Amino acid sequence: MSATIRNLDDLLAEGVSGRRVLVRADLNVPLDKQTGEITDDGRIRAVLPTLSALVRAGAKVVVCSHLGRPKGAPDPQFSLRPVAGRLGELLGAPVHFAEDTVGDSARSTVEGLADGQVALLENLRFNKGETSKDDAERGAFADQLAALGDAYVDDAFGAVHRKHASVHDVPARLPHFAGRLVLREVEVLSRLTGSPERPYVVVLGGSKVSDKLAVIEALLPTVDRLLIGGGMCFTFLKAQGHEVGTSLLEKDMVETCGNLMERAPGKIMLPVDVVAADAFAPDAAHDTVPADGIPSHRLGLDIGPETVAGFAAALSQAKTVFWNGPMGVFEMAAFANGTRGVAEAITKADAFSVVGGGDSAAAVRALGLDESSFGHISTGGGASLEYLEGKTLPGIAALEN
Ligand code: 3PG
Ligand code: MG
Repeated sequence: MSATIRNLDDLLAEGVSGRRVLVRADLNVPLDKQTGEITDDGRIRAVLPTLSALVRAGAKVVVCSHLGRPKGAPDPQFSLRPVAGRLGELLGAPVHFAEDTVGDSARSTVEGLADGQVALLENLRFNKGETSKDDAERGAFADQLAALGDAYVDDAFGAVHRKHASVHDVPARLPHFAGRLVLREVEVLSRLTGSPERPYVVVLGGSKVSDKLAVIEALLPTVDRLLIGGGMCFTFLKAQGHEVGTSLLEKDMVETCGNLMERAPGKIMLPVDVVAADAFAPDAAHDTVPADGIPSHRLGLDIGPETVAGFAAALSQAKTVFWNGPMGVFEMAAFANGTRGVAEAITKADAFSVVGGGDSAAAVRALGLDESSFGHISTGGGASLEYLEGKTLPGIAALEN
């Protein structure tokens, strides 16, 4: 990370006892639609090192985050209250919860904190100013938020690509520092953009080519192999001249996919077989078929075993691996084998491996894979992709100033 960024150790060296430290975290965790329970607490655990260090040093720790995409007004289904409970369990001390973000409840909750105590503010996105494109509106909200802290720590790696008040404007108003998670994420990702040990193999999945186009463009000259699975592979297969039945297809991207393959002959590896089903359903009838033989009434929901074997062979040679996006609909057991197979191959490779993002990180945990057998599991999906694209990330840039 740039030498001009101060980090948590610099803040701790200054001394934080009795000071209010506003920590922007990314506690945007998945919730069960029926029960509202947290289904994956990885992002909460990821911010614990920063929070615990501040607690031990006697700071009054004021945590803020977004959850989901509420529309600038309170919406109970996106309340952070359940997250406060889980955070308290993990920290081993109760977390005081403010019913609003910058209002009376927030102010009195923060005022009531003793040294070494933690408060969580209600969802940042319950306020229009958080995500506003209008600098003045965002700035006004940032003023209110900044008034709740004496120093600011950004540990919300998953949100550093957002030009939002809590990420981009608050650091301009308070002494600012990168938290342990942001520091680690940037260190790891910079290893991939610097001179990665070769062969450097990237695995991309997920549903849309259009979401990944910029990162494919940026990575293609750098990587030795680019393995493509997930819903996006069908647009590439179509560009190869195959029929893809009723699989996900971005028609307006077919030509682009063809050009990408022409530009880097031999670098892009596509599935040679897929699991094709009658319907998008866990119990749909399905078979493994060759990638050039998808029946017209069926849709591909996973990569097939021969593809897994081919991808695994490429991964076994790798010294550096970046993986973003599931290979199939891993939430349905019948279509999870591709994602599981590729993930296992990554853990077996004698490589420095980075798992980028929400879905692939969730897949690692949902499939019961050992998290410690990966080099690094990023908490940021969009953020890690934009980092690898070489874009300026508003949250990182704000820490540099
Ligand atoms: C994420 O889940 O990708 C981050 O928390 C950012 O959320 P957003 O995409 O809604 O800005
Ligand atoms: Mg996202």
